[in-house]
Amino acid sequence: MSAKPHTLIAPSMLASDFSRLRDELRAVDAAGADWIHLDVMDGHFVPNITYGPDVIAAMRPHTTKVFDTHLMIAPCDAYLEAFAKAGSDIITVHAEAGPHLDRSLQAIRALGKKAGVSLNPSTPESVIEYVLDRLDLILVMTVNPGFGGQKFIHAMVDKVARIRKMIGDRPIDIEVDGGIAPDTAPLVAAAGANVLVAGSAVFKGGTPETSNIYAAQIAAIRTAADATRS
Ligand code: DX5
Ligand code: ZN
Repeated sequence: MSAKPHTLIAPSMLASDFSRLRDELRAVDAAGADWIHLDVMDGHFVPNITYGPDVIAAMRPHTTKVFDTHLMIAPCDAYLEAFAKAGSDIITVHAEAGPHLDRSLQAIRALGKKAGVSLNPSTPESVIEYVLDRLDLILVMTVNPGFGGQKFIHAMVDKVARIRKMIGDRPIDIEVDGGIAPDTAPLVAAAGANVLVAGSAVFKGGTPETSNIYAAQIAAIRTAADATRS
């Protein structure tokens, strides 16, 4: 059983050409992206820095797809409103980013946005046991956050399966992020993930002018995942 009829693919703009964000965004939209995954890094919670709410607001007019904002920042609470105003539809915070996860999730919903929590590979799923009713999405990191192009951590397949069991029939999406490609997609989909983030596996070898490459790569991931879900 799966939560959605087919697997949703969320290309990560982290792997795009930052000098051409608008064109890249339009290209993956046309290539069949379901959601747009936006990685926000602060050089403190993770050892890399990307972009903030102003850049997201600048991208917002160029697609109607869901903006799936993944905050890898600590602290995060003071910035939630800015990311909501920038046009995020889903705002995901890391369970490890602050002492008051329940408060952060309440704040996201109070802003009228869907609330997500992300877990680093070493974080057990038990940390979300008492916030399940505040969640719209659980983002299982399948690499250590901070960089694209890393190797998928296989131990996370079991974590996804445990979380799928834990949420029961709550309408919570399970998303995975890191090292997702046609070879790893079936493993996480079979375990219960219904949203797959992919950076390198979508953007590699393509440009906005050759977005048929993006379309083929998105389709390959989705087809591989769907084959394992009934
Ligand atoms: C890593 C980010 C990911 C990243 C995934 O910290 O959260 O979204 O873009 O990149 P790939 O798909 O290349 O592993
Ligand atoms: Zn991400």
